[in-house]
Amino acid sequence: MSSILIKNIRQLFGAHPLSMQRLRGAELNQAAKVENAYLLIDNQRIVSFGAMTDCPERADTVLDATDRIVLPAWCDSHTHLVFAATREEEFEMRIRGSSYEEITASGGGILNSARKLQQMSEDELFERSLARLQEAQKLGTGCIEIKSGYGLTVDSELKMLRVIRRLKAVSDVEIKTSFLGAHAVPMAYKNNREEYISLIINDMLPQIAERGLADYVDVFCEKIAFSSDETDRILTAATQFGLKPKIHTNQFNSMGGIETAVKHQAISVDHLEVLNDNEIDILKNSDTIAALLPTAPFFLNDAHTPPARKLIDAGATVALATDFNPGTTPSVSMPFVVSLACIRLRMTPIEVLNAATLNGAAALELSSHFGSLATGKMGSCIITKPVPSLAYLPYAFGSNWIEQVILKGKIV
Ligand code: NIG
Ligand code: FE
Repeated sequence: MSSILIKNIRQLFGAHPLSMQRLRGAELNQAAKVENAYLLIDNQRIVSFGAMTDCPERADTVLDATDRIVLPAWCDSHTHLVFAATREEEFEMRIRGSSYEEITASGGGILNSARKLQQMSEDELFERSLARLQEAQKLGTGCIEIKSGYGLTVDSELKMLRVIRRLKAVSDVEIKTSFLGAHAVPMAYKNNREEYISLIINDMLPQIAERGLADYVDVFCEKIAFSSDETDRILTAATQFGLKPKIHTNQFNSMGGIETAVKHQAISVDHLEVLNDNEIDILKNSDTIAALLPTAPFFLNDAHTPPARKLIDAGATVALATDFNPGTTPSVSMPFVVSLACIRLRMTPIEVLNAATLNGAAALELSSHFGSLATGKMGSCIITKPVPSLAYLPYAFGSNWIEQVILKGKIV
């Protein structure tokens, strides 16, 4: 493993002290920056950084970052990156006026993806997913969470989780896995949902736990998926198998998911497009992270957006993620997520960059090794092209301002 010295950095962003494991409320607007800086990475980790006046003399590789910004690699805490095929036919149905919920009710949506995934070989699924992971990495993603949930049978859920395990083995992106068997009720159980819930609790969970195939459990708590009581039962069972919850809730309806998640000390609650003041109160008084996914309502052309300002101003911990999936967000671009969070959620440029790095890492329990540029943390960072300022990054939406990505001390 060789050392990399990045020098003449116009601005180093996100040099939060190691003790800062998450940024709550107003803390999210701290840039923790060093002007005219250097960063030295050796043997995968950051060994030092600081002002150019203290810059070390040599390293195996020296990169000149004149006029460039260096920031931590993104930590994308919510994706469905393993899927069989894209769903542009549903995109066209929505253009013609169908809603996401209507498409779901007619057997499209998640069930459409499940049919295709069940038929695909494990190797093919792995190859397709790996190509997407490589795209994420080029866009600066250094940590990613990947969910199951397009299998919906014991065999196919296990197949998805094994694919994620293979991705972990070959990639420099740090990966965490969530088991999302409770993503949708399969057609075969339409009139007997109890039986499917029992399959999750009594068949899927024990096998997954025994094989160590997941870090977290996820449930889609929503009218078109699972109720808060059903969510509660699944989380109770999963906790007994050592899986902590990260759940989909409040995407289209507020129906008790927040209370249930916080009761089970969920690491994060994700989506929150529809969120009332009482739920904001519950979140601000908890350690559960509000993971916002602004590209999903954007792509669905849904007027509801998560109340990011209210959450931050109340003192909650807010993270940003892509929700990359074939139905509601066919984009793995964190640069686009941070732009949209400024535009639609009224978060500041500093807030979005922190929410997509350190707080994303916290939403994956990875913030002691990733998410900020601190001595001892992993050397996973982004070097921009020459740019005029930090605010330019989310401002220049759709333009590729990333010049180089370094993951765990390796130039990608
Ligand atoms: O996070 N909401 C549930 N799951 C995904 C969508 C899955 C799909 O449509 O395939 C989401 O938006
Ligand atoms: Fe999702």
